[in-house]
Amino acid sequence: MQEYLQDKVFKLISETADEMGLETYVIGGFVRDLYLQRPSKDIDIVTVGSGIELAQQVHKKLGRKSKVNVFKNYGTAQIKVGEWEVEFVGARKESYRADSRNPIVENGTLEDDQNRRDFTINALALCLNKERYGELVDPFNGLTDLKNFVIRTPLDPDITFSDDPLRMMRGIRFASQLRFFLEERTFDAIARNKDRIKIISKERIADELNKIILSPKPSVGFILLETTGLLELIFPEFIALKGAETRDGVGHKDNFYHTLAVLDELATKTDNLWLRWAAILHDIGKPKSKKFDPKQGWTFHNHNYIGQKMIPGIFQKMKLPMNEKMKYVQKLVSLHMRPIVLSTDEVTDSAVRRLLFEAGDDIDDLMMLCNADITSKNPEKVRRYRQNFQLVEQKLVEIEEKDRIRNFQPPVEGNEIMATFNLPQCREVGDIKAKIKDAILDGIIPNEYEAAREYMLEVGKEMGLKRADVD
Ligand code: CTP
Repeated sequence: MQEYLQDKVFKLISETADEMGLETYVIGGFVRDLYLQRPSKDIDIVTVGSGIELAQQVHKKLGRKSKVNVFKNYGTAQIKVGEWEVEFVGARKESYRADSRNPIVENGTLEDDQNRRDFTINALALCLNKERYGELVDPFNGLTDLKNFVIRTPLDPDITFSDDPLRMMRGIRFASQLRFFLEERTFDAIARNKDRIKIISKERIADELNKIILSPKPSVGFILLETTGLLELIFPEFIALKGAETRDGVGHKDNFYHTLAVLDELATKTDNLWLRWAAILHDIGKPKSKKFDPKQGWTFHNHNYIGQKMIPGIFQKMKLPMNEKMKYVQKLVSLHMRPIVLSTDEVTDSAVRRLLFEAGDDIDDLMMLCNADITSKNPEKVRRYRQNFQLVEQKLVEIEEKDRIRNFQPPVEGNEIMATFNLPQCREVGDIKAKIKDAILDGIIPNEYEAAREYMLEVGKEMGLKRADVD
Protein backbone atom coordinates (compact mmCIF):
# COMPACT_ATOMS: atom_id res chain seq x y z
CA MET A 1 0.00 0.00 0.00
CA GLN A 2 3.07 2.25 -0.04
CA GLU A 3 1.94 3.96 -3.22
CA TYR A 4 -1.11 5.32 -1.41
CA LEU A 5 0.89 6.83 1.40
CA GLN A 6 2.93 9.21 -0.75
CA ASP A 7 1.35 12.45 0.43
CA LYS A 8 3.67 14.83 2.32
CA VAL A 9 1.55 14.52 5.42
CA PHE A 10 2.32 10.78 5.80
CA LYS A 11 6.02 11.35 5.15
CA LEU A 12 6.13 14.00 7.84
CA ILE A 13 4.36 11.83 10.43
CA SER A 14 6.67 8.96 9.51
CA GLU A 15 9.81 11.06 9.94
CA THR A 16 8.63 12.53 13.24
CA ALA A 17 7.58 9.14 14.64
CA ASP A 18 11.02 7.69 13.76
CA GLU A 19 12.79 10.61 15.43
CA MET A 20 10.71 10.07 18.56
CA GLY A 21 11.19 6.30 18.42
CA LEU A 22 7.42 5.70 18.29
CA GLU A 23 5.84 2.74 16.51
CA THR A 24 3.11 4.47 14.46
CA TYR A 25 0.30 3.38 12.16
CA VAL A 26 -2.50 4.76 10.08
CA ILE A 27 -5.57 2.77 11.07
CA GLY A 28 -9.34 2.30 10.83
CA GLY A 29 -11.75 3.81 8.31
CA PHE A 30 -9.03 5.54 6.29
CA VAL A 31 -7.25 2.25 5.54
CA ARG A 32 -10.53 0.46 4.82
CA ASP A 33 -11.49 3.21 2.39
CA LEU A 34 -8.06 3.08 0.69
CA TYR A 35 -8.66 -0.56 -0.22
CA LEU A 36 -12.22 0.22 -1.27
CA GLN A 37 -11.01 3.17 -3.36
CA ARG A 38 -13.26 5.58 -1.52
CA PRO A 39 -10.91 8.52 -1.05
CA SER A 40 -11.17 10.07 2.40
CA LYS A 41 -9.49 13.06 4.05
CA ASP A 42 -9.93 11.86 7.66
CA ILE A 43 -6.83 10.07 8.86
CA ASP A 44 -6.60 8.17 12.15
CA ILE A 45 -3.10 7.70 13.51
CA VAL A 46 -2.35 5.35 16.36
CA THR A 47 1.01 5.31 18.05
CA VAL A 48 2.40 3.04 20.75
CA GLY A 49 3.05 5.91 23.15
CA SER A 50 1.61 9.39 23.47
CA GLY A 51 -0.60 10.46 20.57
CA ILE A 52 -0.67 14.01 21.91
CA GLU A 53 3.12 14.36 21.98
CA LEU A 54 3.46 13.00 18.46
CA ALA A 55 0.78 15.45 17.23
CA GLN A 56 2.51 18.38 18.93
CA GLN A 57 5.82 17.49 17.33
CA VAL A 58 4.22 17.14 13.87
CA HIS A 59 2.47 20.46 14.38
CA LYS A 60 5.79 22.14 15.28
CA LYS A 61 7.25 21.02 11.96
CA LEU A 62 4.24 22.17 9.98
CA GLY A 63 4.29 25.57 11.66
CA ARG A 64 1.61 28.05 10.75
CA LYS A 65 0.28 25.85 7.94
CA SER A 66 -1.59 23.74 10.50
CA LYS A 67 -3.87 23.97 13.52
CA VAL A 68 -3.73 21.60 16.46
CA ASN A 69 -6.44 20.80 19.01
CA VAL A 70 -5.59 18.77 22.06
CA PHE A 71 -8.23 16.79 23.99
CA LYS A 72 -6.35 15.85 27.17
CA ASN A 73 -9.28 13.97 28.70
CA TYR A 74 -9.45 11.62 25.76
CA GLY A 75 -5.70 11.45 25.17
CA THR A 76 -6.20 12.58 21.58
CA ALA A 77 -5.10 15.48 19.39
CA GLN A 78 -6.27 16.63 16.00
CA ILE A 79 -4.29 18.45 13.33
CA LYS A 80 -5.86 20.23 10.40
CA VAL A 81 -3.55 20.81 7.48
CA GLY A 82 -4.84 21.65 4.01
CA GLU A 83 -7.74 19.31 3.32
CA TRP A 84 -6.52 16.71 5.82
CA GLU A 85 -7.92 16.12 9.28
CA VAL A 86 -5.53 13.95 11.23
CA GLU A 87 -6.50 12.44 14.58
CA PHE A 88 -3.70 11.13 16.82
CA VAL A 89 -4.20 8.70 19.66
CA GLY A 90 -2.01 6.42 21.76
CA ALA A 91 -2.64 2.67 21.35
CA ARG A 92 -4.97 1.57 24.12
CA LYS A 93 -6.55 -1.27 25.86
CA GLU A 94 -10.13 -0.75 26.93
CA SER A 95 -12.49 -2.46 29.28
CA TYR A 96 -16.13 -1.63 29.64
CA ARG A 97 -18.71 -1.55 32.38
CA ALA A 98 -22.23 -2.84 31.82
CA ASP A 99 -24.02 0.47 32.25
CA SER A 100 -22.01 2.81 30.08
CA ARG A 101 -20.37 3.32 26.72
CA ASN A 102 -17.43 4.99 28.44
CA PRO A 103 -14.59 2.55 28.86
CA ILE A 104 -11.79 2.32 31.39
CA VAL A 105 -8.72 3.05 29.26
CA GLU A 106 -5.11 1.94 29.73
CA ASN A 107 -2.06 2.21 27.49
CA GLY A 108 -1.63 -0.82 25.27
CA THR A 109 0.02 -2.37 22.23
CA LEU A 110 -1.12 -2.12 18.63
CA GLU A 111 -2.78 -5.51 19.04
CA ASP A 112 -4.71 -4.33 22.11
CA ASP A 113 -5.85 -1.37 20.08
CA GLN A 114 -6.95 -3.50 17.14
CA ASN A 115 -8.79 -5.87 19.48
CA ARG A 116 -10.99 -3.09 20.77
CA ARG A 117 -12.18 -1.97 17.33
CA ASP A 118 -15.63 -2.63 15.96
CA PHE A 119 -15.14 -4.64 12.76
CA THR A 120 -12.28 -6.53 11.13
CA ILE A 121 -12.43 -4.21 8.11
CA ASN A 122 -11.96 -1.25 10.49
CA ALA A 123 -9.02 -2.79 12.33
CA LEU A 124 -6.55 -2.72 9.43
CA ALA A 125 -3.33 -0.82 10.18
CA LEU A 126 -0.57 0.37 7.85
CA CYS A 127 2.81 1.01 9.44
CA LEU A 128 4.34 4.45 8.93
CA ASN A 129 7.83 3.83 10.35
CA LYS A 130 10.43 4.00 7.61
CA GLU A 131 11.66 0.43 7.87
CA ARG A 132 8.16 -1.03 7.59
CA TYR A 133 6.56 1.79 5.58
CA GLY A 134 3.22 0.66 4.12
CA GLU A 135 3.28 -2.78 5.80
CA LEU A 136 -0.22 -4.04 6.56
CA VAL A 137 -0.95 -5.38 10.04
CA ASP A 138 -4.14 -7.40 9.81
CA PRO A 139 -4.50 -9.89 12.67
CA PHE A 140 -8.18 -10.66 12.00
CA ASN A 141 -8.06 -11.19 8.21
CA GLY A 142 -9.93 -7.96 7.61
CA LEU A 143 -8.58 -7.80 4.08
CA THR A 144 -10.21 -11.13 3.24
CA ASP A 145 -13.48 -9.85 4.72
CA LEU A 146 -13.13 -6.70 2.65
CA LYS A 147 -12.70 -8.77 -0.50
CA ASN A 148 -15.68 -10.98 0.41
CA PHE A 149 -17.86 -8.01 1.42
CA VAL A 150 -18.23 -9.26 4.99
CA ILE A 151 -18.88 -7.32 8.21
CA ARG A 152 -17.50 -9.27 11.17
CA THR A 153 -16.33 -8.30 14.65
CA PRO A 154 -12.70 -9.03 15.61
CA LEU A 155 -13.64 -10.49 19.00
CA ASP A 156 -16.67 -12.49 20.07
CA PRO A 157 -19.49 -10.25 18.77
CA ASP A 158 -21.32 -10.40 22.11
CA ILE A 159 -18.32 -8.67 23.68
CA THR A 160 -17.82 -6.12 20.90
CA PHE A 161 -21.50 -5.09 20.91
CA SER A 162 -21.97 -5.18 24.61
CA ASP A 163 -18.86 -2.94 24.99
CA ASP A 164 -20.36 -0.35 22.67
CA PRO A 165 -23.91 -1.02 21.44
CA LEU A 166 -23.73 1.81 18.88
CA ARG A 167 -21.63 -0.65 16.88
CA MET A 168 -24.80 -2.64 16.12
CA MET A 169 -26.09 0.38 14.21
CA ARG A 170 -22.67 0.95 12.67
CA GLY A 171 -22.50 -2.64 11.41
CA ILE A 172 -25.85 -2.30 9.70
CA ARG A 173 -24.87 1.11 8.38
CA PHE A 174 -21.68 -0.28 6.81
CA ALA A 175 -23.65 -3.17 5.30
CA SER A 176 -26.06 -0.69 3.73
CA GLN A 177 -23.49 1.94 2.76
CA LEU A 178 -20.93 -0.47 1.29
CA ARG A 179 -23.39 -3.20 0.20
CA PHE A 180 -21.64 -5.73 2.48
CA PHE A 181 -23.13 -8.72 4.31
CA LEU A 182 -23.34 -9.18 8.07
CA GLU A 183 -21.60 -12.42 8.96
CA GLU A 184 -24.10 -14.79 10.61
CA ARG A 185 -22.60 -14.73 14.11
CA THR A 186 -22.40 -10.95 13.97
CA PHE A 187 -26.04 -10.72 12.85
CA ASP A 188 -27.19 -13.13 15.57
CA ALA A 189 -25.32 -11.15 18.21
CA ILE A 190 -27.07 -7.94 17.16
CA ALA A 191 -30.43 -9.67 17.51
CA ARG A 192 -29.37 -10.96 20.94
CA ASN A 193 -27.96 -7.67 22.22
CA LYS A 194 -30.48 -5.31 20.64
CA ASP A 195 -31.86 -4.08 23.96
CA ARG A 196 -28.46 -2.60 24.84
CA ILE A 197 -29.15 0.11 22.24
CA LYS A 198 -31.09 1.85 25.03
CA ILE A 199 -27.87 3.17 26.59
CA ILE A 200 -26.96 4.99 23.38
CA SER A 201 -27.96 8.62 22.95
CA LYS A 202 -30.76 9.35 20.51
CA GLU A 203 -28.48 11.76 18.61
CA ARG A 204 -25.92 9.06 17.84
CA ILE A 205 -28.63 6.65 16.76
CA ALA A 206 -30.14 9.32 14.47
CA ASP A 207 -26.70 9.97 13.02
CA GLU A 208 -26.27 6.34 12.02
CA LEU A 209 -29.87 6.08 10.82
CA ASN A 210 -29.34 9.11 8.58
CA LYS A 211 -26.26 7.44 7.11
CA ILE A 212 -28.35 4.34 6.39
CA ILE A 213 -30.99 6.54 4.75
CA LEU A 214 -28.30 8.16 2.61
CA SER A 215 -26.88 4.85 1.44
CA PRO A 216 -27.35 3.80 -2.20
CA LYS A 217 -30.12 1.30 -1.40
CA PRO A 218 -31.47 2.21 2.05
CA SER A 219 -33.85 -0.78 2.24
CA VAL A 220 -30.79 -2.99 2.78
CA GLY A 221 -30.18 -1.23 6.11
CA PHE A 222 -33.84 -1.03 7.08
CA ILE A 223 -34.44 -4.74 6.45
CA LEU A 224 -31.44 -5.55 8.67
CA LEU A 225 -32.72 -3.17 11.34
CA GLU A 226 -36.08 -4.87 11.13
CA THR A 227 -34.89 -8.48 11.13
CA THR A 228 -32.48 -7.92 14.04
CA GLY A 229 -35.27 -6.29 16.06
CA LEU A 230 -33.52 -2.91 16.35
CA LEU A 231 -36.09 -1.03 14.28
CA GLU A 232 -38.87 -1.86 16.74
CA LEU A 233 -36.81 -0.21 19.47
CA ILE A 234 -35.64 2.90 17.63
CA PHE A 235 -38.55 3.63 15.28
CA PRO A 236 -41.71 1.70 16.25
CA GLU A 237 -43.98 3.90 14.09
CA PHE A 238 -42.27 2.50 11.02
CA ILE A 239 -42.81 -1.12 12.09
CA ALA A 240 -46.51 -0.35 12.53
CA LEU A 241 -46.72 -0.12 8.71
CA LYS A 242 -45.89 -3.80 8.44
CA GLY A 243 -48.43 -6.40 7.49
CA ALA A 244 -51.13 -6.89 4.90
CA GLU A 245 -54.56 -7.73 6.22
CA THR A 246 -57.26 -9.48 4.20
CA ARG A 247 -60.98 -9.27 4.96
CA ASP A 248 -63.83 -10.68 2.86
CA GLY A 249 -61.18 -11.65 0.34
CA VAL A 250 -59.99 -8.03 -0.01
CA GLY A 251 -56.39 -7.26 0.88
CA HIS A 252 -54.25 -4.15 1.02
CA LYS A 253 -50.58 -3.76 0.30
CA ASP A 254 -47.92 -4.08 3.00
CA ASN A 255 -47.08 -0.45 3.59
CA PHE A 256 -43.69 -1.18 5.16
CA TYR A 257 -42.33 -2.85 2.04
CA HIS A 258 -44.14 -0.35 -0.18
CA THR A 259 -42.44 2.51 1.71
CA LEU A 260 -39.05 0.85 1.30
CA ALA A 261 -39.67 0.48 -2.43
CA VAL A 262 -40.53 4.20 -2.65
CA LEU A 263 -37.42 5.08 -0.66
CA ASP A 264 -35.12 2.94 -2.83
CA GLU A 265 -36.61 4.39 -6.00
CA LEU A 266 -36.22 7.95 -4.70
CA ALA A 267 -32.65 7.18 -3.63
CA THR A 268 -31.76 6.60 -7.29
CA LYS A 269 -32.83 10.18 -8.01
CA THR A 270 -31.73 12.33 -5.06
CA ASP A 271 -29.28 12.59 -2.16
CA ASN A 272 -31.52 15.03 -0.31
CA LEU A 273 -31.76 13.46 3.16
CA TRP A 274 -35.00 15.24 4.06
CA LEU A 275 -36.69 14.28 0.82
CA ARG A 276 -35.72 10.69 1.63
CA TRP A 277 -37.23 11.19 5.09
CA ALA A 278 -40.44 12.39 3.43
CA ALA A 279 -40.51 9.08 1.52
CA ILE A 280 -40.07 7.14 4.77
CA LEU A 281 -42.90 9.07 6.42
CA HIS A 282 -45.28 9.56 3.50
CA ASP A 283 -47.63 6.77 4.63
CA ILE A 284 -46.82 6.85 8.35
CA GLY A 285 -50.42 7.90 9.11
CA LYS A 286 -51.89 4.82 7.42
CA PRO A 287 -52.14 2.47 10.44
CA LYS A 288 -54.07 5.14 12.37
CA SER A 289 -56.47 5.88 9.51
CA LYS A 290 -57.06 2.32 8.31
CA LYS A 291 -60.70 1.22 8.07
CA PHE A 292 -62.57 -1.57 6.36
CA ASP A 293 -65.73 -0.67 4.54
CA PRO A 294 -67.72 -3.56 3.03
CA LYS A 295 -68.46 -1.44 -0.05
CA GLN A 296 -65.14 0.34 -0.59
CA GLY A 297 -62.75 -2.21 0.90
CA TRP A 298 -59.75 -0.83 2.80
CA THR A 299 -59.56 2.95 3.17
CA PHE A 300 -56.89 5.22 4.62
CA HIS A 301 -58.76 8.53 4.61
CA ASN A 302 -56.70 11.57 5.55
CA HIS A 303 -53.60 9.48 6.21
CA ASN A 304 -51.53 12.30 4.75
CA TYR A 305 -52.84 14.80 7.33
CA ILE A 306 -52.59 12.30 10.18
CA GLY A 307 -49.03 11.59 9.06
CA GLN A 308 -48.20 15.29 8.91
CA LYS A 309 -49.42 15.67 12.51
CA MET A 310 -47.36 12.69 13.72
CA ILE A 311 -44.09 14.09 12.38
CA PRO A 312 -43.20 16.59 15.16
CA GLY A 313 -43.63 13.84 17.80
CA ILE A 314 -41.46 11.44 15.81
CA PHE A 315 -38.77 14.08 15.14
CA GLN A 316 -38.69 15.11 18.77
CA LYS A 317 -38.40 11.56 20.06
CA MET A 318 -35.69 10.68 17.57
CA LYS A 319 -33.84 13.98 18.15
CA LEU A 320 -34.13 15.01 14.54
CA PRO A 321 -34.13 18.76 13.86
CA MET A 322 -37.36 20.52 14.83
CA ASN A 323 -36.83 23.31 12.32
CA GLU A 324 -37.53 24.15 8.69
CA LYS A 325 -36.30 20.69 7.67
CA MET A 326 -39.10 19.11 9.67
CA LYS A 327 -41.60 21.58 8.20
CA TYR A 328 -40.42 20.65 4.71
CA VAL A 329 -40.99 16.94 5.46
CA GLN A 330 -44.44 17.75 6.87
CA LYS A 331 -45.35 19.75 3.80
CA LEU A 332 -44.36 16.97 1.40
CA VAL A 333 -46.19 14.33 3.46
CA SER A 334 -49.36 16.40 3.61
CA LEU A 335 -49.29 17.11 -0.14
CA HIS A 336 -48.13 13.71 -1.38
CA MET A 337 -51.60 12.59 -2.54
CA ARG A 338 -52.37 15.71 -4.53
CA PRO A 339 -50.52 15.08 -7.80
CA ILE A 340 -51.82 11.50 -7.92
CA VAL A 341 -55.41 12.61 -7.35
CA LEU A 342 -54.91 15.30 -9.95
CA SER A 343 -53.67 12.79 -12.47
CA THR A 344 -56.71 10.53 -12.05
CA ASP A 345 -59.18 13.40 -12.53
CA GLU A 346 -59.29 15.77 -15.42
CA VAL A 347 -56.30 18.05 -14.89
CA THR A 348 -57.82 21.52 -14.54
CA ASP A 349 -55.71 24.68 -14.62
CA SER A 350 -57.11 25.86 -11.34
CA ALA A 351 -56.20 22.62 -9.51
CA VAL A 352 -52.67 22.88 -10.92
CA ARG A 353 -52.41 26.53 -9.81
CA ARG A 354 -53.52 25.60 -6.28
CA LEU A 355 -50.95 22.82 -6.10
CA LEU A 356 -48.23 25.21 -7.27
CA PHE A 357 -49.34 27.76 -4.72
CA GLU A 358 -49.21 25.30 -1.82
CA ALA A 359 -46.01 23.52 -2.79
CA GLY A 360 -44.14 26.67 -3.83
CA ASP A 361 -40.46 26.01 -4.48
CA ASP A 362 -40.80 22.44 -3.24
CA ILE A 363 -42.97 21.42 -6.18
CA ASP A 364 -40.15 19.57 -7.99
CA ASP A 365 -39.29 17.59 -4.85
CA LEU A 366 -42.97 16.77 -4.36
CA MET A 367 -43.25 15.50 -7.93
CA MET A 368 -40.11 13.40 -7.45
CA LEU A 369 -41.61 11.83 -4.33
CA CYS A 370 -44.94 11.17 -6.05
CA ASN A 371 -43.27 9.60 -9.07
CA ALA A 372 -41.43 7.24 -6.75
CA ASP A 373 -44.72 6.46 -4.97
CA ILE A 374 -46.08 4.70 -8.07
CA THR A 375 -45.06 1.14 -7.20
CA SER A 376 -48.00 -1.00 -8.30
CA LYS A 377 -47.17 -4.55 -9.41
CA ASN A 378 -49.62 -4.14 -12.27
CA PRO A 379 -47.58 -2.74 -15.20
CA GLU A 380 -50.68 -1.46 -16.99
CA LYS A 381 -51.68 0.58 -13.93
CA VAL A 382 -48.15 1.96 -13.60
CA ARG A 383 -48.10 2.92 -17.28
CA ARG A 384 -51.43 4.73 -17.00
CA TYR A 385 -50.42 6.58 -13.85
CA ARG A 386 -47.11 7.65 -15.30
CA GLN A 387 -48.76 8.86 -18.47
CA ASN A 388 -51.25 11.01 -16.53
CA PHE A 389 -48.46 12.17 -14.34
CA GLN A 390 -46.52 13.44 -17.33
CA LEU A 391 -49.58 15.45 -18.21
CA VAL A 392 -49.62 17.00 -14.72
CA GLU A 393 -45.91 17.79 -15.01
CA GLN A 394 -46.38 19.41 -18.40
CA LYS A 395 -49.29 21.49 -17.08
CA LEU A 396 -47.24 22.56 -14.07
CA VAL A 397 -44.57 23.95 -16.38
CA GLU A 398 -47.06 25.69 -18.68
CA ILE A 399 -49.03 27.31 -15.89
CA GLU A 400 -45.97 28.38 -13.98
CA GLU A 401 -44.61 30.05 -17.11
CA LYS A 402 -47.88 31.88 -17.63
CA ASP A 403 -48.99 32.72 -14.09
CA ARG A 404 -45.86 32.56 -11.89
CA ILE A 405 -47.60 30.98 -8.89
CA ARG A 406 -44.60 29.17 -7.37
CA ASN A 407 -43.42 32.19 -5.41
CA PHE A 408 -46.79 33.81 -5.15
CA GLN A 409 -46.73 37.38 -3.84
CA PRO A 410 -50.10 39.13 -3.66
CA PRO A 411 -50.13 41.67 -6.53
CA VAL A 412 -52.13 44.08 -4.32
CA GLU A 413 -50.83 44.46 -0.81
CA GLY A 414 -52.72 44.97 2.45
CA ASN A 415 -51.55 48.61 2.74
CA GLU A 416 -53.10 49.49 -0.57
CA ILE A 417 -56.41 47.85 0.43
CA MET A 418 -56.41 49.80 3.72
CA ALA A 419 -55.62 53.11 2.00
CA THR A 420 -58.20 52.58 -0.76
CA PHE A 421 -61.09 51.91 1.62
CA ASN A 422 -59.77 53.84 4.63
CA LEU A 423 -59.68 50.67 6.74
CA PRO A 424 -57.59 49.89 9.82
CA GLN A 425 -55.91 46.48 10.04
CA CYS A 426 -58.97 44.25 10.25
CA ARG A 427 -60.58 41.07 9.03
CA GLU A 428 -62.04 42.69 5.91
CA VAL A 429 -58.54 43.43 4.60
CA GLY A 430 -57.65 39.74 4.95
CA ASP A 431 -60.92 38.72 3.27
CA ILE A 432 -60.27 40.97 0.28
CA LYS A 433 -56.73 39.64 -0.04
CA ALA A 434 -57.98 36.05 0.10
CA LYS A 435 -60.61 36.76 -2.58
CA ILE A 436 -57.98 38.25 -4.89
CA LYS A 437 -55.73 35.23 -4.33
CA ASP A 438 -58.59 32.79 -5.02
CA ALA A 439 -59.57 34.69 -8.18
CA ILE A 440 -56.00 34.33 -9.45
CA LEU A 441 -55.74 30.65 -8.54
CA ASP A 442 -59.14 29.94 -10.13
CA GLY A 443 -58.09 31.76 -13.29
CA ILE A 444 -60.77 34.46 -13.01
CA ILE A 445 -58.11 37.17 -13.28
CA PRO A 446 -54.45 37.02 -14.33
CA ASN A 447 -51.66 37.33 -11.74
CA GLU A 448 -51.10 41.03 -12.52
CA TYR A 449 -51.38 44.29 -10.62
CA GLU A 450 -53.91 46.11 -12.85
CA ALA A 451 -56.35 43.19 -12.92
CA ALA A 452 -55.97 42.59 -9.20
CA ARG A 453 -56.62 46.26 -8.37
CA GLU A 454 -59.71 46.28 -10.55
CA TYR A 455 -60.93 43.14 -8.83
CA MET A 456 -60.22 44.63 -5.39
CA LEU A 457 -62.43 47.63 -6.24
CA GLU A 458 -65.24 45.32 -7.33
CA VAL A 459 -65.02 43.22 -4.17
CA GLY A 460 -64.96 46.37 -2.01
CA LYS A 461 -68.07 47.62 -3.74
CA GLU A 462 -69.88 44.34 -3.14
CA MET A 463 -68.93 44.54 0.52
CA GLY A 464 -70.39 48.03 0.70
CA LEU A 465 -67.04 49.72 1.36
CA LYS A 466 -66.56 53.38 0.44
CA ARG A 467 -63.50 54.41 -1.48
CA ALA A 468 -61.29 56.92 0.27
CA ASP A 469 -59.14 57.73 -2.77
CA VAL A 470 -61.96 59.40 -4.82
CA ASP A 471 -64.51 62.03 -3.83
N1 CTP B 1 -14.54 2.67 16.03
C1 CTP B 1 -14.98 1.61 16.82
N2 CTP B 1 -16.20 1.68 17.44
C2 CTP B 1 -16.99 2.76 17.28
C3 CTP B 1 -16.56 3.85 16.49
C4 CTP B 1 -15.32 3.75 15.87
O1 CTP B 1 -14.27 0.64 16.96
N3 CTP B 1 -18.17 2.81 17.89
C5 CTP B 1 -13.20 2.60 15.41
C6 CTP B 1 -13.16 1.88 14.09
O2 CTP B 1 -11.92 1.25 13.97
C7 CTP B 1 -13.29 3.01 13.08
C8 CTP B 1 -12.47 4.11 13.75
O3 CTP B 1 -12.74 3.93 15.15
O4 CTP B 1 -12.76 2.67 11.82
C9 CTP B 1 -12.86 5.52 13.32
O5 CTP B 1 -14.21 5.76 13.58
P1 CTP B 1 -15.10 6.76 12.75
O6 CTP B 1 -14.28 7.87 12.22
O7 CTP B 1 -16.30 7.05 13.57
O8 CTP B 1 -15.67 5.85 11.58
P2 CTP B 1 -15.04 5.33 10.24
O9 CTP B 1 -14.83 3.86 10.36
O10 CTP B 1 -13.86 6.14 9.85
O11 CTP B 1 -16.22 5.49 9.21
P3 CTP B 1 -17.04 6.78 8.83
O12 CTP B 1 -16.06 7.87 8.59
O13 CTP B 1 -17.80 6.34 7.63
O14 CTP B 1 -17.96 7.03 10.00
